Amino acid sequence: MKAAGKQLPKIYVTRRIPPDGIKILQQSGSCEIEQWDSDDPVPRSELLKKVAGIQGLYCLLTEKIDKEVLDAAGPSLKVISTMSVGYDHLSLDDIKKRGIRVGFTPDVLTEAVAELTVALLLATSRRLIEAVDEARSGGWGTWKPLWMCGSGITGSTVGILGLGRIGEAIINRLKPFGVKKILYNDIAPRHELAAKISAEFVSLLELARQSDFLLVCCALTPDTHGVCNKQLFSNMKSNAIFINTSRGAVVNQEDLYQALVSKQIAAAGLDVTVPEPLPINHPLFKLKNCVILPHIASATVETRNAMAALAANNLLAGLKGDAMPKEVPL
Ligand code: DGY
Repeated sequence: MKAAGKQLPKIYVTRRIPPDGIKILQQSGSCEIEQWDSDDPVPRSELLKKVAGIQGLYCLLTEKIDKEVLDAAGPSLKVISTMSVGYDHLSLDDIKKRGIRVGFTPDVLTEAVAELTVALLLATSRRLIEAVDEARSGGWGTWKPLWMCGSGITGSTVGILGLGRIGEAIINRLKPFGVKKILYNDIAPRHELAAKISAEFVSLLELARQSDFLLVCCALTPDTHGVCNKQLFSNMKSNAIFINTSRGAVVNQEDLYQALVSKQIAAAGLDVTVPEPLPINHPLFKLKNCVILPHIASATVETRNAMAALAANNLLAGLKGDAMPKEVPL
């Protein structure tokens, strides 16, 4: 309901979002909603048109919110709320200059991402996709002692690149498998968190050298861009497995490809790539020792609804000038 004589703030929602999120926005009655009501991303030209004069923008990780979008929106834009924990798609410097506030969705997806990371690790280390293909295509002959052997987690050293809530949740799930040693690297040691999971801080080089499973959980920043490169892979063990559920651009994909083809490392499991979607003729898809998922780490019904709801609540709080449940400190 519109208060008499008072114009409601306009918001633009860039996609069809899970029901819990849109319900919160609609039932608030506190904003005028326009939405790109499709499962596919809004075309850039449409986005640039629709943001003109809005106060709030509800977006996803697929929309690059840069100077061009901010200019198109104009000075009315006060709040951007992204339905994601990652915010590397937002030009924070430009956003900050304009005094715009930003909401994001940490915590609510931690468990789902941790579960998927463990699933991807097991699928990669125990060669599950390859094995299913063999079973279906007639490759399953007699039982053979050396066929389809992978590597086990029991007694292994697990390395986390970027120790935060998600890394902690992954380790808590892996420990019951009998992991022997947990290492991590980050921009600085995270003493409290590391103590909780008995993880030891090491240099990136040591992480590469010692890990049997190297799991990338860091945010994409200028510091982490391309940090998983030839130098890192060439220091890993030949039986090591590389898993990435953070952002594709943390990895130099050409270097990873070379490391996998040359068997410098045993295998990789990727939930994120550059670009997304990864073209089906991409060389990485041709490798048996590379398991690629289509960015589904947070994809449970409950989690996506929780993300949508949190993003809606962040947006509404920001429009009112209240503290957001989860705000990016700028
Ligand atoms: C995020 O939220 O940033 C994940 O990549 C998708 O859930």
